[in-house]
Amino acid sequence: MHVRVILLFRELYLEVTLTSIAWLGRDICVDERIVGFKGRHNIVQYISKKKSHQWGAKIWVLSESDTGYTEQLQLYFGRRNRQQPYPHGVGYSVVTELVEPHYNKFHHVTTDSLFTSPKLTHDLLGNGTYSTGTVLAGRKGMPLSFKTLKTPKGTVNAKKQGNILAIHWSDRRQVRFLTSSDHCRLETASNSKGKEKVAPGVVHTYNENMGGVDLENQLLSVYDPDIRSVKLWKKIFVNLLLTACS
Ligand SMILES: *[C@@H]1O[C@H](CO)[C@@H](O)[C@H](O)[C@H]1NC(C)=O
Repeated sequence: MHVRVILLFRELYLEVTLTSIAWLGRDICVDERIVGFKGRHNIVQYISKKKSHQWGAKIWVLSESDTGYTEQLQLYFGRRNRQQPYPHGVGYSVVTELVEPHYNKFHHVTTDSLFTSPKLTHDLLGNGTYSTGTVLAGRKGMPLSFKTLKTPKGTVNAKKQGNILAIHWSDRRQVRFLTSSDHCRLETASNSKGKEKVAPGVVHTYNENMGGVDLENQLLSVYDPDIRSVKLWKKIFVNLLLTACS
């Protein structure tokens, strides 16, 4: 296994390529991971929603959907510490930088609403890469009508622009998707608990392909050595190591 670590402490930028495998499956996903930490450090972000890890460093991960195999990691140090600005938002930069080495191989990338935007979907497609993701209604370029749309449970609304489909799905709550590879027709599929569910095809695709990272997140929290005395860096490397070995 090849591990490449670039550490520029002054710029506080860390890039880790765990390994370059010759062949990565078609379906890949990008997700955010939190390394828990109780202490003070300028790269540590306060993360309010994750109760188990009130303080943590963010790691962005590219992994294979089927196996949860982690291919690339990027560490987050907050806006101020980065040399390059984020002209199209943090999510856009993270995904394009992680996926760039795999452009034009017709991979399919799944992302959640932290990352997805019409600009991202468009540029990935322009580089021979399909994508599917949940998306915030307020993202630039999203259909304006999606913002206020509240339809009865089970209703699908879709808008198409070029090869990109924006889908509004009313489930227990209103969810929006962007996809350059999927469709909005209703399909029956069973969820992780084996329960049958009718939803647009894009919902099943999303659920299937975000699974890889969740799987590894579970592994991480099981083995997470949450010991107060462990210094942040040490802890990050322990996490990277666990990721590399799993
Ligand atoms: C390819 O991706 C880059 C970002 O990685 C973007 O700047 C460029 O516009 C994309 N190309 C096309 C043709 O969409």
